[in-house]
Amino acid sequence: MNLEAGQTLGEFIIENQKDFQYSSGELTRLLSSIKLATKIVNHKVNQAGLVDIIGKFGAENIQGEEQQKLDVFANEVFIKTLSQREVVCGIASEESDDFVRIENCQNSELSKYVVLIDPLDGSSNIDVNVSVGTIFSIYRRVTPAGTPVQLEDFLQPGNKQVAAGYVVYGSSTMLIYTTGNGVNGFTLNPSIGTFYLSHPQMRIPEDGKIYSINEGNYAMFPQGVKEYLKYCQKVEEDRPYTSRYIGSLCADFHRNLIKGGIYIYPSGTKSPNGKLRLLYECNPVAFLAEQAGGKASDGFNRIMDIQPTELHQRVPFFCGSKNMVEKAEEFMVKA
Ligand code: AHG
Ligand code: MN
Ligand code: MN
Repeated sequence: MNLEAGQTLGEFIIENQKDFQYSSGELTRLLSSIKLATKIVNHKVNQAGLVDIIGKFGAENIQGEEQQKLDVFANEVFIKTLSQREVVCGIASEESDDFVRIENCQNSELSKYVVLIDPLDGSSNIDVNVSVGTIFSIYRRVTPAGTPVQLEDFLQPGNKQVAAGYVVYGSSTMLIYTTGNGVNGFTLNPSIGTFYLSHPQMRIPEDGKIYSINEGNYAMFPQGVKEYLKYCQKVEEDRPYTSRYIGSLCADFHRNLIKGGIYIYPSGTKSPNGKLRLLYECNPVAFLAEQAGGKASDGFNRIMDIQPTELHQRVPFFCGSKNMVEKAEEFMVKA
C-alpha cells in the first residue's frame, strides 16, 4: 500500500473534529502542536550516535531515576511547543518535579486543557538503538479558565481524559491516538515530514499469544503473577504463549495492540506499586487499550477509575487483550 497520496494526520484531525465533544478548534491546535513536537524529537532520536545526544544528562528526576540527555531534550521540546499555543494552561511531566503553569495563558479563556506527558519512554534503550517513545494524556481543566491552573486539574481519574496517545520512534515513526472514538495510527514519511493514516480504527485481538513482563524481577512478583506466568508456560496443555519484552512500554504495548498480548508491570518490584506512573504512562495507555477493545487494570480494578492522589504516583499495570487481562486478574484474585 502506498500512502503518499493518502490521508494525512493534519487532514484527519480536522475531518474528525466534529466527533469531539468540546470545542473542536482547540483540540485541533493542541494535537497539531503535539505533532510538531513529535517531529522535532524524532529528528533528534534519529541523530543518536551522530551528534552528542546519547548518554546520561548527569542529574536525577524527582523519582530518583537517572535522566538521559534525550529525556531532558524531549521534555524541553514538548513543554516549549505546547506552551506556545493558547490552548494549554498547564503541563505535568515525568521529568519535571512539579507541574508547569503556562504564564501567558492564565488570562485566556481559551486555555482549557492540561497535558501530562512521558516525553521519552524507554530511555534505557536510547544508547542501544532500540525503540523509544512519547506518551501523552489530555484533560480539560476543572478549575475556571482564566485562573492559574491547580494541582487538582492534573489529579483527575483516567476516565476524564479527552484524548491520549503515544509515539513510537521505531523502525518507522508512528503516532497513535484516541479522542474517545476508537484508535487510529499514523506513520511518518520522514523524507517529507508528514504523518499518514496507516492504521485506521485499530482493534486489539481479544486473545493473544504474547506476554510482556520483566522476568528478571520474578522472585519479587506477587503470587498471582507467578501463577499466571506458570499457566502461560505449561507445555503439557500446549499453551500457545511466547514472551516478548522490549523495556519501552509504548513499543511493547504497540506490538501487543497489533498482535494481541498482555503487558504486566506488577507490584513488589522497583517499588511497592511497581514502576509505571499512573498519570503519564498507565492512564493514556489504558484509554487506548479500552478504545481498541482491550482492558487495563491494576490486577483487580480498572486503571481509569483510580482517583490519583499525587502527580508521580505509581500503580501496578496489567494491560492488553481483554481475555488475557481477565485471566491474569483471576489469578490475582485467587492468590
Ligand atoms: P521511562 O524510560 O519513561 O522511565 O519508562 C520506562 C518504563 C517503561 O517504558 C518500561 O516498560 C519499563 O519502565 C521498563 O522497566 P524495567 O527496566 O524495570 O523492566
Ligand atoms: Mn516511561
Ligand atoms: Mn520517560
